Amino acid sequence: MTSSASLAQLDLDHLFHPATDLRGHRQAGPQIWERGEGVYVYDSEGRKYLEGMAGLWCTALGYGEQELVDAAAKQMSKFCYGPLFAGKSNEPSIRLAAKLSEWVPIEGARFLFGCSGSDANDAQVKLVRYYFNAIGQPRKKKILSRGNAYHGITLATAALTGLPAFHRHFDLPGDDVIHLTSPHYYRQGHAGESEAEFVERLAGELESVIEREGADSIAAMFAEPLMGAGGVIPPPAGYFDRIQPILEANGILLVDDEVVCGFGRTGNPFGCQTWNIKPATMTMAKALSSAYLPISAVAVPPFMYEAIEEAAGGVGLFAHGLTYAGHPVAAAVACRNLELMEERGIMAHAAEMGELLQAKLAPLADHALVGNLRGKGLIAGLELVADKATRELFPAQNKTAFKVAAACLAEGLVVRALPGDVVAVCPPLIITEAQLAELVEKLGRGLDRVLSGG
Ligand SMILES: Cc1ncc(COP(=O)(O)O)c(C=O)c1O
Repeated sequence: MTSSASLAQLDLDHLFHPATDLRGHRQAGPQIWERGEGVYVYDSEGRKYLEGMAGLWCTALGYGEQELVDAAAKQMSKFCYGPLFAGKSNEPSIRLAAKLSEWVPIEGARFLFGCSGSDANDAQVKLVRYYFNAIGQPRKKKILSRGNAYHGITLATAALTGLPAFHRHFDLPGDDVIHLTSPHYYRQGHAGESEAEFVERLAGELESVIEREGADSIAAMFAEPLMGAGGVIPPPAGYFDRIQPILEANGILLVDDEVVCGFGRTGNPFGCQTWNIKPATMTMAKALSSAYLPISAVAVPPFMYEAIEEAAGGVGLFAHGLTYAGHPVAAAVACRNLELMEERGIMAHAAEMGELLQAKLAPLADHALVGNLRGKGLIAGLELVADKATRELFPAQNKTAFKVAAACLAEGLVVRALPGDVVAVCPPLIITEAQLAELVEKLGRGLDRVLSGG
């Protein structure tokens, strides 16, 4: 058997880690995870941790769910792979699309499958362009996004992502993406500005960008209902109610990125239901399969599908698709995952646990390190500050949020440090009240450790 020390050395010698401080990794080495059960994961030394981040916001039904293992094994031995190209089909993809049509609040939607949130959002950009070309508005190309957005890492979606580290050295973004001000009231609100005034300012900015660029040049706006990786940022009150009519009036499609919010995270099946968003299209991934296998989906409304069908007819082919789109094993797992969510009442459970998480976290808003506590349902962020009154951040080189994440790990809790010194919490949806209490207690102890310099 390979010891964990020699595994770590193999990692250092051969692995290229995504989204990692590469230099820091040489010093710190990897944390190697070995197994998981429920909301707990175990490292290669056998230590147990509460997985307070559900992996990367994705292991909704937790770890070691035998039903999903069985669904994969059964499908893999029956029919391990078949494409959806050229009209070929397979039962799991058909059933998953039909199941999604019961979940997704876009009447008559069709579902285009992919393998990740990034490729699904990339497909969204292509579909939006295809659609506007098809209906004779070929100038509509530009896409609106927002500071702090996270939409993925392909060329198109990294450009949409509103975090500088994802642009630097990659020559991004190009000039067909326009980033609006982040809807982050705590950071972007002016001194003395009310939340309602902030929303007015953002709406005014949107209107002036549309006027400057011309509505006939803007195709879509991408938005996460609640921003995840950019800092766990719920929209300010009334934000979507205010901006949606502006988009509608200018023929700009709202692409709803539900990759984090989708499937119960914010207390409803989708984030768009929590914030009264009426999306044109929707992107889903992560909890769609509880991350047991990679799969994503784009919900395409009939008005777009019909225009695309018509235009593709002229070419004889809708020339887009991934080898693994509609992979039967991933689709079978996703389908079973959604069935289990239904059978076990996971949406109601997540909504109840979400209220409890927010209530249990509330006292931490008074912690000396915490400038702003925010969240909705089973997702929360704690923004750390050097000075609560002025909201001054710690120097970036202090890596304060990383220190808190490391201190929590030492306490047996996985949380995540995000840019802007935010500590994120996003546990599996199956978490119980007692486990929530454990999470919050360990998080408090992690914060205390860093505060006392420990
Ligand atoms: C809101 C959102 N959209 C898209 C993505 C990209 O998904 P993936 O990492 O599966 O490509 C993510 C990933 O975290 C995300 O949070």
